[in-house]
Amino acid sequence: MITRDLRQAAPRDIYRILTSLVIPRPIAWVSTLNADNSVNLAPFSAFMGIFNPPMVAINFARRKDGALKDTHRNIQQRKDAVVHLPDVPLLGAMHACGEDVPEGDSELARLGLETVPADVVGSPILLQAPVALECRLNQEITLSEGSTLVLLDVLVAHAREGIWNESYDCADARRWNPVARLASVSGPNYAGLGERLTLAPPRLPAKN
Ligand SMILES: Cc1cc2nc3c(=O)[nH]c(=O)nc-3n(C[C@H](O)[C@H](O)[C@H](O)COP(=O)(O)O)c2cc1C
Repeated sequence: MITRDLRQAAPRDIYRILTSLVIPRPIAWVSTLNADNSVNLAPFSAFMGIFNPPMVAINFARRKDGALKDTHRNIQQRKDAVVHLPDVPLLGAMHACGEDVPEGDSELARLGLETVPADVVGSPILLQAPVALECRLNQEITLSEGSTLVLLDVLVAHAREGIWNESYDCADARRWNPVARLASVSGPNYAGLGERLTLAPPRLPAKN
């Protein structure tokens, strides 16, 4: 085994090593409203579903100058967001939104993306996204000077009709291809879903 003691490592190395090991990561592609009501759109892969209670969590780093990222600031101010799960056809657009651009420089306009109003939150839904979760701020937990975990309640879930399996009343992973973030080895790497594997319910082998 290769071993790295993260207690002794520099923050840059810790980030590189851990993000290369905790893969594949789902990506939250988050729309929020800026102060002037323009739409902000940015991806975050320090992201997990919590499910019960119906919540998701996103960890926000700071910008290089120490300022809050626009998404984080907008969630603080507006108390809501829409979390989208991008699929492979949207990979390029989602990745491009990772560029730090000044507020007011609309990612949407530059990418030719459109939004529609959400049902219960102020932040809008990205029309092209296969999945959208309308979320409200639950709480923030400051983890370090440069890192804040934001917990969001999921109020309403939307999925494109073609990916919904009516028999199970949920999305069917065979019918869409969500994007996952991998390590940044020779450039940022992503993956779509490969083979889907279906098993029987978990059962250990019989005891000897
Ligand atoms: C796939 C992907 C995942 C990212 N994950 C995170 C993350 O988990 N936390 C974070 O602070 N920034 C993350 N970033 C960087 C932000 O997307 C980037 O700083 C973005 O410009 C923030 O935009 P905003 O200031 O409009 O919120 C990620 C970027 C990409 C492309």
